[in-house]
Amino acid sequence: MTTTTDPKTPSPRVLYATLGLLLAVLLIGAGAFMWLGGNGGNGALSIGGPFTLEDGDGKPVTDRDYRGKYMLVYFGYTFCPDVCPTTLNAVADAMDKLGPEAARVQPLFITVDPKRDTPAVVKQYAAAFGPKVLGLTGTDAEIAKVAKEYRVYYAEHRTGPGPNDYSMDHSSVLYFMSPNGGFMAPIRADQSGEEIAASLRKLMG
Ligand code: NI
Repeated sequence: MTTTTDPKTPSPRVLYATLGLLLAVLLIGAGAFMWLGGNGGNGALSIGGPFTLEDGDGKPVTDRDYRGKYMLVYFGYTFCPDVCPTTLNAVADAMDKLGPEAARVQPLFITVDPKRDTPAVVKQYAAAFGPKVLGLTGTDAEIAKVAKEYRVYYAEHRTGPGPNDYSMDHSSVLYFMSPNGGFMAPIRADQSGEEIAASLRKLMG
């Protein structure tokens, strides 16, 4: 295939494609900002939703089991070397800092690695971050569904040939959900327990 344009100068098609890509990146950025901006829990933005998962004892749980409490939802996996344990330490610290107000909040850790994170594994892992944090797992399909509802990105990343030679890439955001299950606000996961507690206090009024 030949073209009539000088190969040294970008063709109009390449220019338009580049502009289109830039525009797409800007729009996606704006969109991400808007959907993570929170809406006060009035349900206008679609983040979160019904889920059925398994708790640390293998018993089925649903989002409805936590109605009446604020949910602080985090997605990760127990083999995570750094981000997940750091975040869950901060969440546990935030619960301590909240004092009696912590009774109104249920922190949930939902694994994106159900293959390795069985109920027993998530139970033991969550317990390491104090009595408040509950670990949840589920089937591949159940995890895929809840992750999609929360706009969570996750993907297996191979590190070797063995069946367990992989890590999970995953987005890292804390989701604060109202007592009726609606999305209230994203909480940055790279904050201290003190900062997270301050955000939650403000959101709970
Ligand atoms: Ni992680």
